[in-house]
Amino acid sequence: MNYIKIDNTAAFTPEVTAESVNALLPQAAAAAQTLEAGTGAGNDFTGWLHLPGSITEEQLTAIERSARLLREECDYVVAIGIGGSYLGAKAVIEALSDNFAALKPARGARLLFAGNNIGEDYLHDLMQLVSGHRFGIIVISKSGTTTEPAIAFRLLKGLLEREQGREWAARHTIAITDVARGALRTLATTEGYDTYVIPDNVGGRFSVLTPVGLLPIAVAGFDIRALVAGAVAMEREGDTLTATYAATRNTLYASGKKIELLVNYDPRLHFLAEWWKQLYGESEGKQHKGIFPAAVDFTTDLHSMGQWIQDGERTIFETVLSVENQLHEVTIPTDEADLDGLNYIAGRRVGEVNNMAELGTRLAHVDGGVPNIRITVPTLNEHCLGQLIYFFEKACGMSGYMLGVNPFDQPGVEAYKKNMFALLGKPGYTL
Ligand code: PA5
Repeated sequence: MNYIKIDNTAAFTPEVTAESVNALLPQAAAAAQTLEAGTGAGNDFTGWLHLPGSITEEQLTAIERSARLLREECDYVVAIGIGGSYLGAKAVIEALSDNFAALKPARGARLLFAGNNIGEDYLHDLMQLVSGHRFGIIVISKSGTTTEPAIAFRLLKGLLEREQGREWAARHTIAITDVARGALRTLATTEGYDTYVIPDNVGGRFSVLTPVGLLPIAVAGFDIRALVAGAVAMEREGDTLTATYAATRNTLYASGKKIELLVNYDPRLHFLAEWWKQLYGESEGKQHKGIFPAAVDFTTDLHSMGQWIQDGERTIFETVLSVENQLHEVTIPTDEADLDGLNYIAGRRVGEVNNMAELGTRLAHVDGGVPNIRITVPTLNEHCLGQLIYFFEKACGMSGYMLGVNPFDQPGVEAYKKNMFALLGKPGYTL
């Protein structure tokens, strides 16, 4: 079995040395111990820590059964959710999918997403697309009260009931929510939907390995057992990796590197970075502290953000996700005229060019004062993604404790909601 690896040697600078990173390792170990003992801030939200190893055969079988029903009986399945109730599934599905899956014939129902924005045209276009088809709905909200998914669900539920009848709609709607609380739980009970529970002690951004992520991923046709197995492997064997990452990024932060850029060289990893941004941004950005998590897609963004990264303010470091093996081989052909001047790389794989772009960029950025952490991912499959997910979750919990914040709350996200509710005239809210 292949495992992810971490290399922090290109992260060392005159201020951040192997010794200074090593000096933080005991703090990382103490943070891991605090998570384990359940004695830190937000300790009622650490259910994700031993979640992978506790997922049962019955749970997986039930999720696979629901996924099969939706895949086989629907043309489309719309997964409704936002933030932690959306990004994990989206990240895994994009990372595992054919780059042009949306334009190729599908073997089961096509999975679509909604409730992750309030775009009026988005909802219009989506309803126009699924109208006249048999579609299923997976509605996901831990609180059961989030505005964006609630609007999308009200619209799609109405459409489905009008077109297919209430009974068919109810049989093809699955709610994933809190065990007892919230409007979605009440609605699911009233309508008789099948439901899955988001455990009380698992916050949204740590919930991808619960039904929140597993059901949409299974509906998209991917192997949730291998995903969970990868996470279990990291839960059991990942201590050194997570400690190295947490200690290195916190040492860099203390040295003035306030922004972490998650870099990928494979377009399928774009949404993994979106998931990672939520995980780290919501967990660490509080009490006026925390590394700002940003992301770039290379080599694409080298042609837009490359200048800033090479030459702008020296407050950034990069964490590079490097995929070792592509699934397919594409070789650059020889051209007799060579008008494009590419014959010097004829006969070589596109992946080799990408690898040299990565190496060349690392050398240039390190030279330009941008320290690099490198995480190698053997291949983009379920097992490796499961490892990566758990690795980032554990290192995030540890980093939050090392920073001295509660990594498991998100008080700051309420401020805009109060204003929006007041502006919309929701009873009980004022500006
Ligand atoms: O991390 C979080 O808790 C948030 O980003 C939530 O995931 C997001 O707001 C969605 O919340 P809910 O699942 O309650 O609808």
